[in-house]
Amino acid sequence: MLSFRRRLGLVHQFVILVVLAIAASAAYWSLSRAVHGQLDAALLALAETEAGMLAEERGEPVVHETAAAGSAPMSFVRLDRLVQIVDAHGRVIARSVNLGAATLPAHPATLARLANGETVFETLHSFGEEPTRLVSVPVIAGKVLRGVQVAGSLDDVQRVLYAAAVLFAVMSALLLLSVGAAGALLTRRVFRAIDDVVQKAHRIGEEDLSQRLPHPGTTDEIGRLVDTLNEMLGRIEHGFDVQRRFTADASHELRSPLSRLRTELELALRRPRETGAYVETLRSGLEEVERLTLLVEELLALARIDAGQERGNAERIVLNTLVEDAISRMKPIGDARGVRLEIETSRQVCAKVAPGSAGLVLDNLLDNAIKFSPLGAQVTVEVMVEGTDAVIRVIDGGPGIRRDELERVFERFYRGPSARAGSTPGMGLGLALSQAIVHAHGGSIGALNAEPDGAVFEVRLPSID
Ligand SMILES: Nc1ncnc2c1ncn2[C@@H]1O[C@H](COP(=O)(O)OP(=O)(O)O)[C@@H](O)[C@H]1O
Ligand SMILES: [Mg+2]
Repeated sequence: MLSFRRRLGLVHQFVILVVLAIAASAAYWSLSRAVHGQLDAALLALAETEAGMLAEERGEPVVHETAAAGSAPMSFVRLDRLVQIVDAHGRVIARSVNLGAATLPAHPATLARLANGETVFETLHSFGEEPTRLVSVPVIAGKVLRGVQVAGSLDDVQRVLYAAAVLFAVMSALLLLSVGAAGALLTRRVFRAIDDVVQKAHRIGEEDLSQRLPHPGTTDEIGRLVDTLNEMLGRIEHGFDVQRRFTADASHELRSPLSRLRTELELALRRPRETGAYVETLRSGLEEVERLTLLVEELLALARIDAGQERGNAERIVLNTLVEDAISRMKPIGDARGVRLEIETSRQVCAKVAPGSAGLVLDNLLDNAIKFSPLGAQVTVEVMVEGTDAVIRVIDGGPGIRRDELERVFERFYRGPSARAGSTPGMGLGLALSQAIVHAHGGSIGALNAEPDGAVFEVRLPSID
């Protein structure tokens, strides 16, 4: 299989060859017409002069090249022409001395056309040593038809055409070579740049994703290709970083409760204890196990979404009902902190979602709103349609989110400084999981701050009727 570069070169050369062949043929053809036309015109001029003289002489032919010097001006008409005068039956009446013993052919077909008053041009291939062009002109001299025939050699014409053909061929070959060489040079430069990119791309492995492809320094297609590939490398690098951090965080989050559990169990086993102490140890152990179970479930949910298994069971859901259900699920937690949960809506809003996952998103948002709000605050959930979007907003009266944290809160295992410092439960996976679910449904989720204080979490999904 030929390389792309070789194929491109061949196509390039073939196109040039065809264009050159067409151009050279056209030039040769028009030159040939011009040179032949010139000879025909010269022959005809001489034949007409001859015919004029014949008409004046009333059919008595002039003897060629023996005429006495007259008073006519000098003419450059060539004398290497063969002249012959025939009657209506083709019998030779007179001919020029240079014909020697030969006679010019006067075929019946030619005679018939002469009788019709036509001028006849013929090319004689087997007359004498050279190909010859013959013109026959009718003339009425003294009421009888005569034919004046003038012949000239085609030798000069053919020599000119031969020389032109050689010239065109040489010029075409030179042009083909120079254009082909220029094309090859250009393609080699282009493909060398591509080869560089390919070789460098081969060397970029999973370990050194921070490397970038060498930029040719131009803004042409190759420059844009390198830019695009480098941007893609940037995204892949970021993706790998996120994945690495996630794995490290996940292992850390799993290890801490496990080592706490182990220490507690080891301590309890060190010596015999009261039943109460065992119960206490078991209760605390159970808490750790619950924490671990929750974490593993969230990690599993994220893994399922990452694997693209979340979109399957989407159906048309009335979001108002979904929100009311979530509020009644979270009510006990709200009541424990004296936080009131309210829905605010003016119409029924529908979207195509998997009800289980969508419920999980609402639980997470409400859980955050409750736990980050001061005691006795109010949490409002707005459900509405904006343009083509079904919008759910969870608005709380808490401290809000720092501006530099607005994007970060959706990162996996991210917990704000106050969440980490205080005793607020959580592992920093709730919003990451919610975002993954919303994205899997073709929607978007964002965080902003409410006025005068409090946080707003906004979920947008494509609305349906
Ligand atoms: N309603 C809110 N008000 C203020 N900060 C919030 C709110 N919701 C989330 N955050 C911030 O975003 C972080 C991540 O939230 P999330 O992913 O749900 O994890 P977690 O609830 O386990 O802390 C929280 O630790 C907190 O800093
Ligand atoms: Mg949370």
